[in-house]
Amino acid sequence: MREFDIQSVKQRFGIIGNSPLLNHAIQVAVQVAPTEMTVLITGESGSGKESFSKIIHQLSPRKHGQFIAINCGAIPEGTIDSELFGHEKGSFTGAQEARKGYFEVTNGGTIFLDEIGEMPLGTQARLLRVLENGEFIKVGSSKVQKTDVRVVAATNVNLLQAVERGQFREDLYYRLNTVPINVPPLRERGEDVHLLFRKFASDFAERYHVKPIMLQPEAVQELLRYRFPGNIRQLKNIVEQISVLEHEKEIDRDTLRRYLPQEQMNQLPALFHAAGAPDNASGISERDLLYKVLFDMRKDMNDLKQVVFDLLSHQQEDAELLKANRHLFDEVRPAYEQPPVYRAPERRDGYVLTVDEHEPDEYEEKVEDISHETEEESLSLEHKEKEMILKALKKHGNKRKYAAKDLGISERTLYRKLKQYDLEDL
Ligand SMILES: Nc1ncnc2c1ncn2[C@@H]1O[C@H](COP(=O)(O)OP(=O)(O)OP(=O)(O)O)[C@@H](O)[C@H]1O
Ligand SMILES: [Mg+2]
Repeated sequence: MREFDIQSVKQRFGIIGNSPLLNHAIQVAVQVAPTEMTVLITGESGSGKESFSKIIHQLSPRKHGQFIAINCGAIPEGTIDSELFGHEKGSFTGAQEARKGYFEVTNGGTIFLDEIGEMPLGTQARLLRVLENGEFIKVGSSKVQKTDVRVVAATNVNLLQAVERGQFREDLYYRLNTVPINVPPLRERGEDVHLLFRKFASDFAERYHVKPIMLQPEAVQELLRYRFPGNIRQLKNIVEQISVLEHEKEIDRDTLRRYLPQEQMNQLPALFHAAGAPDNASGISERDLLYKVLFDMRKDMNDLKQVVFDLLSHQQEDAELLKANRHLFDEVRPAYEQPPVYRAPERRDGYVLTVDEHEPDEYEEKVEDISHETEEESLSLEHKEKEMILKALKKHGNKRKYAAKDLGISERTLYRKLKQYDLEDL
């Protein structure tokens, strides 16, 4: 599909963005639209799945037929069969009249089944039948009817896991999943976040008759680093709030931060995976980042222990406390390395705490082994950290400010580390 066609589809359906993952999803939708195939749209909540169902209907020969969107999660279990497939008069209490269901009404058109993972198992069986041969039976009837409806389904839950838990029929899953379209989460769409921000800022400015908000460069970096668990829906709400509440329209980083709910994992920079690329463009992988977090935590933990240890060892009465809790002063190691032996952290003045009780010889051997491993481990961690600092500097043309931001550390810490690793000349 030509670039031009994708752009015109975006324009027609009001889709903003230009990231490779988004373009790929649109391309699949456009290719599959003219066929009769069932499509399953997957993607996190708020990522924009609904527009895809419209693309598929509008670009298909059924475009003059009906398009009905049904949220399977919003219809009570007791009435969903009747809503979808209709019922006969008197088939249940309150069924005073016979009623046609959506599958009958939409004959010749498209049904969009949103939140398909919420569909009750009984309804799933009826849906499978209609997908297999176009047959359905109204509630309270025994007459088999025929219909010609194309189904597009969407879900923000992992249906395979639902299959494993027995909440979703496996045969239906494979039937629906003939063509999967994955709508990428916002955090994997790189610069699209800023594009969308500007679009929403101008929309809300118009709606509320205010000047559009805009982000200072540091705030843009903050926006790009945020993980947006609620995706485009969340971004839109945030832009609306800021547009209404902030009088100063040039938004700086700290102001923006106040509107971005912080979860622990949000501290990590978002990773932008280019389609087909094994890793993100900067070369800093998710593993590198986790490595860094663990490294920092371990260092903090050991520093903290050192401080507590120093404090306690000054007082005679605290020495008992220290002895009783000596395991707490082991150096932090990965769990699989945790040995049942005691090793006090080395003090800055080179003094090593000795323990009264003597450990058995075999333990002493272990102590030696482990201290060696720990040293190796810490060397490789330091190596890793140095490597990441170099990568970040390279990515940002040696601009320390941006490299520090990308690494999730302060500029001051970066300076300290450059000194530590003899990289000050960079
Ligand atoms: N590419 C886009 N450009 C502009 N607005 C978008 C885009 N994608 C989604 N939106 C807007 O974002 C909001 C969320 O999109 P949508 O309702 O399609 O999410 P969803 O994936 O169906 O989420 P859920 O699983 O929670 O139903 C909507 O207001 C929609 O108009
Ligand atoms: Mg939706």
